[in-house]
Amino acid sequence: MTDQPLRLTLRRPDDWHLHLRTGAMLKAVLPFSARQMGRAIVMPNLVPPVTDMARAETYRREIVENLPAGSGFRPLMTAYLTDHTDPDDLERGFRAGLFTAVKLYPQHATTNSAHGVTSIAHVHPVLERMQAIGMPLLIHGEVTDQDVDIFDREAVFIDRVLTPLLRNFPELRVVLEHATTEEAVVFVRQNGPSGRIGCTITAHHLMINRSSIFAGGIRPHLYCLPIAKREKHRLALRRAATSGEPWFFLGTDSAPHPIGAKETACGCAGIFTAPSAIELYAQVFDEEGALANLEAFASLNGPAFYRLPPNEDRITLERSGHIVPDVLDVDGKDAVLPFRSGERLDWRVVD
Ligand code: NCD
Ligand code: ZN
Repeated sequence: MTDQPLRLTLRRPDDWHLHLRTGAMLKAVLPFSARQMGRAIVMPNLVPPVTDMARAETYRREIVENLPAGSGFRPLMTAYLTDHTDPDDLERGFRAGLFTAVKLYPQHATTNSAHGVTSIAHVHPVLERMQAIGMPLLIHGEVTDQDVDIFDREAVFIDRVLTPLLRNFPELRVVLEHATTEEAVVFVRQNGPSGRIGCTITAHHLMINRSSIFAGGIRPHLYCLPIAKREKHRLALRRAATSGEPWFFLGTDSAPHPIGAKETACGCAGIFTAPSAIELYAQVFDEEGALANLEAFASLNGPAFYRLPPNEDRITLERSGHIVPDVLDVDGKDAVLPFRSGERLDWRVVD
């Protein structure tokens, strides 16, 4: 194609939804995010979960101690909401700058969510406090009712849980995480102008649909939650992400699992995209003819929602091609497989 730019410079992006894990896995995966992202919202679904200030301090220290020398990457910590969360601890953590947000997992909705909230009614006092202090609630938006088809769980959550929640807490600031449906896109657009709704979109949900999970056989490395939906939903997500609208922003949901935990009779949910995160998004934006909106999605809309300044430094992407890294060793026993491993993407981050 003609008139294609060869280089693209943007403010350094941030990842507003990231799983870094702990121990050897953290050591293995952290350098990838630290290389391209300025900050990341770090998910608290460890075992045991990061439920209070003390655990968040310990986890944050572990992350910072494992950063590559000279890295400016900043982890933004989240608290895992349970039926027993103490509103005073959250408020103290928020005011001290330790907690950026609170994560709501409906119980058993996804990986390590056994301690999640059993009913919104149980956390009303916490939500009231968060609303009063302007602390964002990040939501894994799926119902857990096994009678609801897995492909419908997000849309049903929006109707049954999210809509009443926004009505009952009219000032609460909410991020609908890893949107996967056209219904989510419509909902976010309706509520976005209020300024209190944000929405992250992963790179993989912009690239795969539910048929991809079964292309030529079952592909456990494409299984994540919320599960990828029909093609029409992928197309709606691509239009939303590339639109430049301020309520949509980058959140990879990069979620590494050992290969053995994916390739098994009951494999874990999670797709590991961190090694090529910005390159994957750049590919999608380029395909949609929307590279001009990549900076808004990746580097500006997220900070605006979180009331933080955008990063001052910049990254440069070059249209010279990038091969997604191969299998990554974790500790000599376990390894993780990056999404699109070995494949060529058009854009590369210039170091
Ligand atoms: C995440 C994980 O592995 O921690 N898995 C996933 O499929 N996205 C949990 C989550 O964010 O749902
Ligand atoms: Zn996640």
